[in-house]
Parts: sequence; structure tokens; C-alpha cells
Amino acid sequence: MARRMFVAGNWKMHGTRADVGQITAISIDCETLKQTDVALCVPSTLITRAVAAAPGFTIGAQDVHHESKGAFTGSVSAEMVRDAGAKLTIVGHSERREGLGETNEDVRAKAELAINMGMRVILCVGESLKVRETGQALRHVEEQLKASLPDMVTAPLHLSIAYEPIWAIGTGKVAEVGDIAAMHNRIRNALEQTYGEGHSSIRILYGGSVKGSNAREIFTTEGVDGALVGGASLTAEDFMPIVEAAE
Ligand code: G3H
Repeated sequence: MARRMFVAGNWKMHGTRADVGQITAISIDCETLKQTDVALCVPSTLITRAVAAAPGFTIGAQDVHHESKGAFTGSVSAEMVRDAGAKLTIVGHSERREGLGETNEDVRAKAELAINMGMRVILCVGESLKVRETGQALRHVEEQLKASLPDMVTAPLHLSIAYEPIWAIGTGKVAEVGDIAAMHNRIRNALEQTYGEGHSSIRILYGGSVKGSNAREIFTTEGVDGALVGGASLTAEDFMPIVEAAE
């Protein structure tokens, strides 16, 4: 099945009202795209403003809580970000798995809650440098993925997977294309084992120091359906060359 390319930006903990103009600029630049879907996952504080500043463009959240509501000070739920206008959310980013101790079970619950809210989900997986150096990356990511995938019949229609080697995030180091292809192939097989034919609608993105200068090579790597972009998604000047490489 031919899948449309998908480039998503993750603003992480960057962005205030002063930066909303970049979201408008990116959305306008994306209006003429023919075969690429684009989204920006902004801080929760900016979702409503971003939706207003970029009508028709897909704005996402960066996380949701694994419970639907309750006494969880400082957290936001899937219902809340959807209510604010988010059409999708990232779950399982390594900065939350590693930094905040989120488990595969948490990630699966978040994905299921978001999908139940009618949202799309970008579910992140990836290995540390230590795991890569000990030759366990493929096995590690496959296990992490299978334990994190939502157990729902409709899940494949709403899911993208982002493979992000932790050691490549924000470091300027990009995985070798051969290693990216091998990992995406392993992820594709795991998705097929889990969802059967439904796997074919799921896009597998690469993330980790994607820039305008390396995007084309990454996008022409076998099994790559797009990218999850961090630092280079903050301005139209940096982000659009990546989007154009996908197109
Ligand atoms: O979510 C995005 C990834 O963590 C990649 O971030 O492009 O700044 O390396 P980066």
C-alpha cells in the first residue's frame, strides 16, 4: 500500500505567543503540498492559539496522561488537548520514557485514550546508545514497540510510529541509513504480527537530528514514511526544506 509521507514537528518545551507567527508561516507554506501530510505538536499552552493561527492545519499535543481524568497536578488529558483543538498527540517520547519513568504500559494506555477521543497518535520508540553498542537495538525496539502498541481493532487507522534512536536526538548524529532501514523493517514486521493487514496504513517515521541537509537521504531510505522533527521544526526557514524533501 502506498502511504503518504508524514512530517511532524515537535516543539518540545519551546514556544510562546511570540512564536505563533512561525506556525502560521509553516501552515501557509504547506497549503500547496500534494503528497505530504504535515503537523506541528506544540506545547499545551499554545494549542488553542496555534489552531486559531493556522486554520485547517494539523496541530498536535506532545503528550497526554495515561488516565482519563483525576488528581494529577500539572498533567493534561487526551480530552483536554482535543478540546483545545489538537487532532493528534505524541506518546512515549524518550524524553518522557527516560526522564520521567514512563513505562510501556503507560504509553499503551495513553495511545488508547487518545484514539478513543478520536485523535491520531504518534507513538515513539528507540534505543539508547548503550543498547545500540551492545548489538541489542533491533530486539530492544521490537519488544518496546509490542508492549506499547494499543490493543484496539481500530488502532492502525490512527497510528504512526516514530523510531527515534535516543543518541541521535538533538545531537547532530543521524543513524546510518542501513540501520534505519533495518529498524523500520523490524518495526513493520512487528506491526504486521500485531495488526495483520491493518499494518499497511501505519506510517513509520524516523526522528533524530533530521535537517534540511539530510532529509532527502532519510526519506529515500527503504521503509521510511516521514520524520518526527525536533529542533529544526521551530521556524519555517528550518522546517520547510525538510517538508519539501518529503514532497
Ligand atoms: O521529537 C523529536 C525528536 O526528539 C528529534 O529531535 O530533531 O531535535 O533531534 P531533534
